[in-house]
Amino acid sequence: MDPLLEAALRARENAHAPFSHFKVGAALEDSTGRIHTGCNIENASYGLTLCAERVAVFKAVSEGVRGFRRVAVAADTETLTPPCGACRQILWEFCGDAELLLTNLKGKTETLRLKDLLPRPFDASFL
Ligand code: THU
Repeated sequence: MDPLLEAALRARENAHAPFSHFKVGAALEDSTGRIHTGCNIENASYGLTLCAERVAVFKAVSEGVRGFRRVAVAADTETLTPPCGACRQILWEFCGDAELLLTNLKGKTETLRLKDLLPRPFDASFL
């Protein structure tokens, strides 16, 4: 299996999702091939919840990493789970039109591009 998918599946196991029980893992491959992961982290004050994708991006960026070429998202759903709207915007900021791999626990996968999910994005080019 693609190591990026494996990393997203492994990261999912660390999810803190006692409220939704919906565990998500994310993995980013940077321009050197290094992998950075994240999982969703919920909170009793529900709105403070962070999605797996944003945790992965913020972890990596806070360590000085820039430039990502691939993103993977893993969840236990038959229809593969795509990043939420907020995460699409954050992923666009740091990953641009990266390759986006989705997977589930049964090994179903799909590859698309972030632009497919976020057409006509708002970004720094407008500022
Ligand atoms: N979630 C993610 O981590 N990523 C997504 O792309 C979709 C939603 C999380 C947030 C929350 O902890 C749970 O899934 C249910 O919405």
